[in-house]
Amino acid sequence: MEFINILNPKKKRVIIIGASSGIGKGLAKLLAENDYKVGITGRKAKLLEELKKTNSNSFLIKTFEATDTKTSIEKLEELVVELGGLDLLILSSGTGYLNETLDFEIEKKTIDF
Ligand SMILES: NC(=O)c1ccc[n+]([C@@H]2O[C@H](COP(=O)([O-])OP(=O)(O)OC[C@H]3O[C@@H](n4cnc5c(N)ncnc54)[C@H](OP(=O)(O)O)[C@@H]3O)[C@@H](O)[C@H]2O)c1
Repeated sequence: MEFINILNPKKKRVIIIGASSGIGKGLAKLLAENDYKVGITGRKAKLLEELKKTNSNSFLIKTFEATDTKTSIEKLEELVVELGGLDLLILSSGTGYLNETLDFEIEKKTIDF
């Protein structure tokens, strides 16, 4: 098995699905600071543009709704071409809800996403 240290990579192209906030945004910044070319995605173009401004040479943006499978595939394929290949894919889009009463309908929203 090949071991890849993501902070000292031999290969340097990554896509982060869900990079406009939270964990994905944090990872996007970290990887850009460590010489990755980073494809960043989400629905909120303004937030992705703000992130790109922090390191404009490192980020490429695609905006799409991740539950739309057809569009997601098309946009990801475009991004892979623009990056010149892909070494790492990080899926960080999603939702989560507090569910203190263990109501299944609340869990179902996360499952359906
Ligand atoms: N933070 C935690 O402590 C924690 C703990 C356990 C699990 N998780 C899970 O880890 C994942 C990331 O958490 P986070 O805290 O970083 O969440 P977050 O700050 O809400 O970020 C979620 C990211 O996913 C994108 N996204 C959400 N719905 C989308 C959709 N329908 N289409 C396209 N993009 C979508 C958002 O972008 P746009 O809004 O621009 O679309 C955003 O960039 C989530 O699945 C969460 O449930 C988080």
